[in-house]
Amino acid sequence: MTINIQRYKQFFTPKKYSQILVEKILYAKPEKIVDLTMGEGSLLLEASRMWKGSNLFGNDIDSKCCKKVQDIIPEIHCYNKDIFLDTSIKSLIKKIGTVDICLGNPPFYLIKQNKDSLKILKLFSLEGYYKASYISAEVLFILQALRILKNGGLLSVILPDGFFVNNALKKFRIFLITEYTILDIIELPSEIFEHTKAKTHILVLKKSKSISKTIKLSSIVKEDSIFIKKDDAYNRMDYSFYESYSNYSNYKKLEKYDVEIFRGKPKFMLKDIKETWILHTTNFRFGNDFKSPLKTNRLIKKYIDRIAFKNDIIIPRVGTSILGKVGVVQSGYFIATDCVFIIRVKNENDRKDILYTLNSQFGKDWIKSISKGVGARHITLTDIAKMPIIEKEHKNNEF
Ligand SMILES: C[S@@+](CC[C@H](N)C(=O)[O-])C[C@H]1O[C@@H](n2cnc3c(N)ncnc32)[C@H](O)[C@@H]1O
Repeated sequence: MTINIQRYKQFFTPKKYSQILVEKILYAKPEKIVDLTMGEGSLLLEASRMWKGSNLFGNDIDSKCCKKVQDIIPEIHCYNKDIFLDTSIKSLIKKIGTVDICLGNPPFYLIKQNKDSLKILKLFSLEGYYKASYISAEVLFILQALRILKNGGLLSVILPDGFFVNNALKKFRIFLITEYTILDIIELPSEIFEHTKAKTHILVLKKSKSISKTIKLSSIVKEDSIFIKKDDAYNRMDYSFYESYSNYSNYKKLEKYDVEIFRGKPKFMLKDIKETWILHTTNFRFGNDFKSPLKTNRLIKKYIDRIAFKNDIIIPRVGTSILGKVGVVQSGYFIATDCVFIIRVKNENDRKDILYTLNSQFGKDWIKSISKGVGARHITLTDIAKMPIIEKEHKNNEF
């Protein structure tokens, strides 16, 4: 059988980050350690260096991984199961019992809901996720890990950025925060994996309830940690966002100004419209001042609520490299696509402050920090509306 690398998301965990993942686990003498999606075994290898004498167990859906790992570290007990099946974890628990530490860099993909995923969700009273037709592998991975962990055991796992910031997973984050102890969430540098630009973090969690009111977020790049309120963590738990935000949290937010923020129409719905009348992310290739040949909105009136005109501020909504750019309509009328946000500010001084903020280093970092998604990153209207605006009196402070 040939294994499809894309399908199983077989991205080797770089040694440096395997080491960090293991070093973050403060556990004196674990008896048993497991990696449920071990790949080539880099996490278990680091664990074997850190804790001599622990029993190591590894599992992967790809039998070739098992063979490879067995050849490199014969003392690892290897299993070859699909870890997203209910029976797989039952049979592992039967064979090895519960464990002190669970390591992991699970595949980042979506799983079509099936009888196993529903059964696993039900075990944790997470029936709220039944309605979704797909469930992310990370969620099921964590639940399976929680099943095999002893009470008080530790989970240390690399997860995609979306897990920590996407609204769709808010209820799951609330569940983890309420039922378990999140010891640290460590933001890793972008692009640590060879074949993907995915931004990732390490989640370190203890299988026991917590009374703490805060959650620790750390950054490898900044060599820094901050603490955030649990209530805030429900919405998002990424270091970059809170770090950019903390210095400016007292500033007036964009949504508090007299502004309209909206996005345009999907481009495929504008087939009957001349290219030069459309305002899309590609317009940024030719500069940041946009001039339309349409002197009135007469010919595009049917798109009246998607039209951008003089003095409207335009920012891209989608596209990793383009996020952070800022443009202004200088003249004429455009129909905007849904890949850009239009920010309409009536008051001229307010507009100047908003433009100043968007063009500042802070503004660019802010946009980067609120961007979400693996591959092409995007920003949401809710997040952009919360942007702190640097007003005149603050302008000479830090910029
Ligand atoms: C990101 S890789 C893990 C990398 C590993 N830490 C290493 O350093 O090699 C994810 C692994 O999950 C495995 N995998 C994917 N789907 C799986 C499943 N349903 N059950 C068990 N393992 C799975 C893949 O074969 C792959 O080896």
